[in-house]
Amino acid sequence: MGFSTVERTVPDALFTAVYRGLFAQAFPPEELDGEDVLAAALEGGAANLFAVVDNAGTPVAAAFGEWSEASRVQLLTYLAVGPAARGGGIGGRLLRDAVNVWSVRRDPCIVVAEIEDPGAPAHDAHGDPRRRLAFYEAAGARVLDVPYFQPGIGGPGGRVRGMLLLVLHAAPVFISGDGIDGAPLRAFMEEYLAEAEGAVGDDDEARALLAAFDRPGGVPAGRWRAAQ
Ligand SMILES: CC(C)(COP(=O)(O)OP(=O)(O)OC[C@H]1O[C@@H](n2cnc3c(N)ncnc32)[C@H](O)[C@@H]1OP(=O)(O)O)[C@@H](O)C(=O)NCCC(=O)NCCS
Repeated sequence: MGFSTVERTVPDALFTAVYRGLFAQAFPPEELDGEDVLAAALEGGAANLFAVVDNAGTPVAAAFGEWSEASRVQLLTYLAVGPAARGGGIGGRLLRDAVNVWSVRRDPCIVVAEIEDPGAPAHDAHGDPRRRLAFYEAAGARVLDVPYFQPGIGGPGGRVRGMLLLVLHAAPVFISGDGIDGAPLRAFMEEYLAEAEGAVGDDDEARALLAAFDRPGGVPAGRWRAAQ
């Protein structure tokens, strides 16, 4: 079976097939935005979709990303490989290809992703968080040392705890010492909180997260440690 990678910047039938056939199966509802929200992000021009399709045009893997021009941070919002195709190298190739395209197209930029913390309770139906982290680390990802939570879709009540923020690429201009420049990451996070939750919260959890981006010397990024 031959596969090819295609890109979409507007919603179409392939986008619908990816959302319903891959993303909705791979992610718990609290981590997945609505189909209309992703379609609107594509329409708005700041999002794009890479899909790996088989000979019949059926998507077997996909990566969806959103670009923040204001902060110069590219988020890999969703990456999923259909259950039948997992473990065959498709996800790894797609991840590297997507990060390469974004890092060139958006240069200079930081590319980030959010994944479940392997130390947090596992969702059996959605894969093993330890293996998933190993997958990202094998592609060069590093864990940012911040008390991360996924902003709540619709408000702070929907926040997803037990998540990690990964850096997949940082242009040299955004690397300071052993860390990643916190200013663009903070700007990205404020924008993300405002969009998802309606405002940047002034609660302890949001303050602690934002303060972690203000550390002198940048935000440390390294391999995951269980006690982190
Ligand atoms: C994580 C995922 C994208 C990997 O794609 P893939 O094509 O299976 O991965 P590759 O063949 O390139 O690499 C294999 C590695 O992927 C990881 N992996 C494979 N299946 C996995 C699963 N069900 N759960 C978690 N990680 C998995 C492992 O690290 C594996 O290495 P290992 O076999 O030595 O443990 C894919 O398994 C998937 O879609 N999982 C569900 C959705 C998801 O977790 N998305 C990422 C969060 S944004």
